[in-house]
Amino acid sequence: MSRRIILDCDPGHDDAMAILLAHGTPEVTLSAITTVAGNHTLELTTLNALRVCTLAGISDVPVAAGCAAPLVRPLVTAPEIHGTTGLEGHAWEEPAARAVPDHAVDMIVDMVMASPGEITLVPIGPLTNIAVALRKEPRIAERVREVVMMGGSYTGGNVTAAAEFNVYVDPEAAAIVFGAPWPLTMIGLEVTRLAAAGETIFERIESLDSPVSRAVVGMLRFYQAQHLRETGVSDPPVHDPCAVACVARPELVPCREAYVEVELAGRLTTGMTVTDFRRRAGVPFDAKVGTGLHLDGFWDLFIDSLAPQAHRF
Ligand code: RIB
Ligand code: CA
Repeated sequence: MSRRIILDCDPGHDDAMAILLAHGTPEVTLSAITTVAGNHTLELTTLNALRVCTLAGISDVPVAAGCAAPLVRPLVTAPEIHGTTGLEGHAWEEPAARAVPDHAVDMIVDMVMASPGEITLVPIGPLTNIAVALRKEPRIAERVREVVMMGGSYTGGNVTAAAEFNVYVDPEAAAIVFGAPWPLTMIGLEVTRLAAAGETIFERIESLDSPVSRAVVGMLRFYQAQHLRETGVSDPPVHDPCAVACVARPELVPCREAYVEVELAGRLTTGMTVTDFRRRAGVPFDAKVGTGLHLDGFWDLFIDSLAPQAHRF
């Protein structure tokens, strides 16, 4: 049975890969795409989501724009990684569709409340929309099937020594999301750093020789160059598809139970997902945390999803 998901994203190159994976793999059904400010402004993350939908021929999935700023702090974007448009590396045509008029928070609440136990929320950007949805309708916590998020880390950050970008941008939202009584899986940097796109991956994608694969190669080459300049690492980590892969094929992502709290006041550690694997009396685990990634299975899943037959034009 295909898993219905709402993908909450901030495209962003790896978000674009996550949209394509979710669309192209039969184990997942995209019920909605919601956008949030993060890698870039809300206007650009929403435009980029619509661009990817046009590229992939995704015409039956509503795209709803959400929150344009974090709950408390000023927005921090990532143009040094994702460029001035948030999705450089491909010559995008004008999107075929516009975002729906509904706010992302209302779409998340309405869809989850209307389908108890069916919807998996897959946030792959800052958690602002998810936190506001919880505040608007706390009962979504008992009606979602689960939450599988890309974000956080227990092995060190990427924006600071302690914090991963999605949690760093809106730590207060992350604290609300981690503190809610729902089944949550954190796919953090210890998983996603393993999903590094090397030349073999580029060659496999290039060999598909389709409009989608050519766009993906263009995007990934730009993303690769930015990462190399910023981090010295030549093979860029494709973070966000790891969360979709965890929903589609849970066996690809080994997990452990943990107790996770978000640091909100540390001079050096704000946005850190403090992850406690210790079993302590009276302190129940509140999350599953990804600890690894079966690489061959992940890349096969991702590349198969890009194959022309996977895209229903
Ligand atoms: O830290 C990686 C995360 O931050 C990814 O979701 C990437 O798209 C950025 O949003
Ligand atoms: Ca993202």
